[in-house]
Amino acid sequence: MSQINKTSLALGMLLVLVALTVSGCGDKNSQSNFDAQSGAHPVGWVPTGHPLAAQANILSCTGCHGNDFTGGISKVACTLCHLGNQFAVHPLQWGQYAYALHGSFVVQNGTASCANVSCHGGNLEGATGPSCTSCHMGGPTSFHPLPWNADITLHGGFVGQNGTAACRNVVCHGANLEGVFLSGPSCNACHNFP
Ligand code: HEC
Ligand code: HEC
Ligand code: HEC
Ligand code: HEC
Repeated sequence: MSQINKTSLALGMLLVLVALTVSGCGDKNSQSNFDAQSGAHPVGWVPTGHPLAAQANILSCTGCHGNDFTGGISKVACTLCHLGNQFAVHPLQWGQYAYALHGSFVVQNGTASCANVSCHGGNLEGATGPSCTSCHMGGPTSFHPLPWNADITLHGGFVGQNGTAACRNVVCHGANLEGVFLSGPSCNACHNFP
């Protein structure tokens, strides 16, 4: 960004701050949330600071990020990182079933929007969100080890060698291998384990 643009951006920010203060709708919070001098939010704003500030007073963001949160004079849209809206990092329709519904999203759209340094990490190694392979055994896009995709009966030998720790995930086959709604079946759908 050229020096002139930087200066006019900083001036714009200053004007917004002044306007908010004069109109009385700026609170101490929104001003300490942004340093007009450096033209940046404080350290730690992503990930920890901004969710709290937004939940406390979402209107304190609109002056710079726009009434519709598409960027405004800051040119940073909330949806640059959020897949839902200004309140939701994941698509709204996932609701409380992110564990079950993210798979088809990734199959359709790929992993580009997950691989955000603030979200699941630039290489999907985890950041504020977990690493994909904390659940997935076959790399980010395969929940089972890859060879199983051709022959699922290979799971028997794996369990014989490694036990069931990797299956006992609350969103995979359940902590007691009893199965999970919209996800992995109970082992006893096929077996007769005690
Ligand atoms: C005075 C103007 C101003 C206000 C008020 C403001 N922002 Fe910003 N925001 C900016 C600018 C400019 C940037 C780009 C520079 C930067 O990253 O700090 C930015 C960037 C951000 C980023 C991205 C930071 C990063 O590291 O990539 C987030 C998240 C954010 N703002 C959230 C919010 C939230 C939430 C609020 C309300 C609680 C808010 N902002 C209020 C001007 C503002
Ligand atoms: C640079 C990336 C980035 C931008 C831009 C951004 N956010 Fe966020 N936001 C995050 C991340 C990462 C989290 C998750 C933090 C966590 O889980 O600890 C988050 C979480 C939130 C949450 C909590 C949501 C939840 O489901 O718990 C709110 C509210 C929020 N952001 C508001 C905003 C608003 C308002 C803006 C735009 C003004 C914005 N964010 C822009 C990265 C961003
Ligand atoms: C908390 C555990 C967990 C994490 C973390 C996780 N997943 Fe998943 N993933 C699952 C489960 C459980 C399923 C299977 C849901 C079902 O049966 O439909 C799944 C399914 C998928 C599928 C569909 C696979 C197929 O063969 O149909 C893809 C693709 C996928 N996830 C990608 C990802 C990516 C990319 C990440 C990281 C950004 C990730 N997952 C993180 C638990 C997780
Ligand atoms: C859809 C049916 C099905 C489900 C669900 C299933 N298995 Fe299996 N499992 C099989 C079949 C079929 C075999 C036999 C493979 C062969 O003939 O080599 C097998 C074999 C095994 C074996 C080898 C010993 C044996 O009894 O033959 C173990 C251990 C095992 N499964 C554990 C599990 C665990 C743990 C789960 C749950 C996380 C599970 N299975 C879920 C069908 C299933």
